[in-house]
Amino acid sequence: MIEYKGVYKAFDEPVLSGVDLRVESGEMFALFGPSGTGKSVLLKTTLALIVPDRGDVCIDNQSVHFGGRGTLARIREKVGYVFQYAALFDSLNVFENIRMGLPEATLKRMTEKEVAHKAWEALELVNLEPRMILSKLPAELSGGMKKRVGIARAIVGRPEILLWDEPTTGLDPVNTAAVERLITQLSEELQVTSLLVTHDVEGGLEMCDRVAMLEGGRLRFCGTPEEFKNSDDPVVQAFENRAAAYAAIDVLDVR
Ligand SMILES: Nc1ncnc2c1ncn2[C@@H]1O[C@H](COP(=O)(O)OP(=O)(O)OP(=O)(O)O)[C@@H](O)[C@H]1O
Ligand SMILES: [Mg+2]
Repeated sequence: MIEYKGVYKAFDEPVLSGVDLRVESGEMFALFGPSGTGKSVLLKTTLALIVPDRGDVCIDNQSVHFGGRGTLARIREKVGYVFQYAALFDSLNVFENIRMGLPEATLKRMTEKEVAHKAWEALELVNLEPRMILSKLPAELSGGMKKRVGIARAIVGRPEILLWDEPTTGLDPVNTAAVERLITQLSEELQVTSLLVTHDVEGGLEMCDRVAMLEGGRLRFCGTPEEFKNSDDPVVQAFENRAAAYAAIDVLDVR
């Protein structure tokens, strides 16, 4: 279970002004919100990639920011992170990129043969052909393939929790549908808890048990997809209408 407790973070301006959110074990949870509202910043606080000015995040009741190095290392072992824009290392090949998804402690326990086996399995789970792709550099891959390699890196350590930052943004509708199917399939097959940041509101509402909307540094909405669709909050309604309009433009663009 993931629990954000009064997470506050300012850079030049306040970005997160006290976010409280609880994602239950086994849940698929979507986080929506306009661009620049701090969705990625919030996800990064989950693994202390960004440290909040105030507040904390707990994973299974263990404190990410006050639990010490040992606790953080254990938390990082059970959480996989799919970065926005895939964020692969350009100078490393696919195998080496996926290897980076295994925490130091796990790597120390494994032989290189076991690591190769895990990377192979992870690529198969994201429907990529390992033999064809393991030694390729990111520059040799399409956008959709890079996203999948980013997902393979996040799942290679068989995490209990997956954080997805915009896994479908920039993909065409066919690849978007494929990645969405993959997210659902992985969540079911690996029985993970998923927190999904997405601009694809329609997809998020369809896939997830609960959704939230971040706006103005706080959670403006948190509830079931049904409650989101029926919300009488004008800010939620305006966001939903804008998202639907953009989705329509996306489809037109592709045609
Ligand atoms: N490391 C950083 N240093 C300074 N400012 C940052 C940093 N990371 C994020 N910000 C700022 O925090 C704000 C929120 O950024 P964030 O990337 O979380 O937005 P987002 O909701 O994920 O947007 P998008 O939907 O476009 O991905 C932005 O104003 C951004 O410039
Ligand atoms: Mg972002």
